[in-house]
Amino acid sequence: MTKSFYITTPIYYVNDKPHIGHAYTSVAADVLARFQRLHSSDVMFLTGTDEHGQKIEKSASKAGISPEVFVDNLSLQFRDLKELLHLSHDDFIRTTENRHKEYVKQIWNKVLKSGYIYLSKYSGWYAVRDEAFYAESELVDGKAPTGADVEWVEEDSYFFKLSEFGDKLLQWYQDHPDFILPESKRTEVISFVESGLRDLSLSRTTFRWGIEVPNDDKHIIYVWFDALFNYISALEDKAGRFWPCDLHIIGKDILRFHAVYWPAFLMAAELELPKRIFAHGWWTNEGQKISKSLGNVIDPKDLIAKFGVDYVRYFLMRAIPFGNDGDFSEAHLIVLINSELANNIGNLIQRTLSMIHKNCASSVPPHGILQAADNELLEKLYSSVDVVVQLMDRQKIHLAMGVIVEIGSAANIYIDKHAPWKLAKNDVERMNDVLYVLVEAIRVIAILLQSFIPEAAKKILNVLQLTEQPLSHISKLYAIVPGTVIKESSILFPRLL
Ligand code: MSP
Repeated sequence: MTKSFYITTPIYYVNDKPHIGHAYTSVAADVLARFQRLHSSDVMFLTGTDEHGQKIEKSASKAGISPEVFVDNLSLQFRDLKELLHLSHDDFIRTTENRHKEYVKQIWNKVLKSGYIYLSKYSGWYAVRDEAFYAESELVDGKAPTGADVEWVEEDSYFFKLSEFGDKLLQWYQDHPDFILPESKRTEVISFVESGLRDLSLSRTTFRWGIEVPNDDKHIIYVWFDALFNYISALEDKAGRFWPCDLHIIGKDILRFHAVYWPAFLMAAELELPKRIFAHGWWTNEGQKISKSLGNVIDPKDLIAKFGVDYVRYFLMRAIPFGNDGDFSEAHLIVLINSELANNIGNLIQRTLSMIHKNCASSVPPHGILQAADNELLEKLYSSVDVVVQLMDRQKIHLAMGVIVEIGSAANIYIDKHAPWKLAKNDVERMNDVLYVLVEAIRVIAILLQSFIPEAAKKILNVLQLTEQPLSHISKLYAIVPGTVIKESSILFPRLL
């Protein structure tokens, strides 16, 4: 039976247009989703927009339009990321949709009935930018630890008995060591929970934009209780097939909501917990924090207009280990793309294919009995898939890409050593062997590249007369057939200047 695989991005706040941080989370999830599809899983990949709460209400009023119109406009811009970034999600949820609102109300009632929600009064600090409550002890120089402004709030509020879940959560983390990755983030969460959990305010009464508490419409459901349940509300009749979720990809800033509140909500609602939460790092721009006030927000549209979608995807995924923070700089992007795509893989393809066009009437040559060096390279190709699968299973995306680069380097060393251009003059049979092995290297590289840079991979496969290839085709059984006509192509990975 095919394995099901459910992966999500966070749903994005529609208070502002998409930037590089959103693109990053989405591309990472996309790469992982594509990879699982090629690995023959039954994949569900979800993304969407988080449209309720005080932050959105404020942004709408600042723009002088109703929240309804405001969120419709901005949500569209997030939808457009699909085409721009070549995302492959299967659904896009908006928290203003009925399917979502109804589900949240139903869950509210269930958790209320189980006794985990009670009415009381909240007085404390709230940061609208983070949509989060903070304890006095957490404040740094009168601001939230994230730097967001806080305001004092005193209002009637429903509470969630989060304090009852500390031990259960700690037990869960202990029994499921891979629940939170990377490891350093898991440690952070555990020490936060060990320091004691307070009950969580679950409703607000001082604004209107959100889902009303069932039977008490003075209250609006806390936006995180609303938002987190998107991961299930979107599944509708597919919940049996895909819940529990295999992987929530999030940024480190929203780890507490996903690794503490979310599992506690699910426990209270008697639902299964997701299998893994992976928190990635944050990008800075040329050494500076990215912020609107600094005016250094990177628009993915501009970046793609300049470098093309594949180069941007490649850079985002390969430049830093997934889970670490990273600094964005165009100079770094150019160096990385030139060294790994243009000079390494691109050069390999160009050299091999042009020799085939020139010396083999544009078709894959037949081969004789292969030599040890040939078999060694082929062995490296076929064994790479298991290594890549293992790395991707732990979201070590940049290392998985490193394996592809290594194949490129090994093939370039091979071509230099066996110099088919010399063999063309005195040993055509041996030249054929060498070129055959090199085309096979290109085929395997293209298969592996599909999840990361789908457009370029498709072009390479097309030159070899192939369409989308599952990972299982990285095997001798599917080796390129001699006689296959190699199509003419322009340079696939042009150098950046
Ligand atoms: N709406 C919430 C998520 C609710 S999920 C149930 C939210 N939205 S967000 O739009 O503010 O952020 C979404 C994602 O963008 C987060 O994963 C966040 O980490 C990511 N990024 C925002 N800025 C970023 C960088 N500068 N660098 C990397 N990712 C960053 O939070």
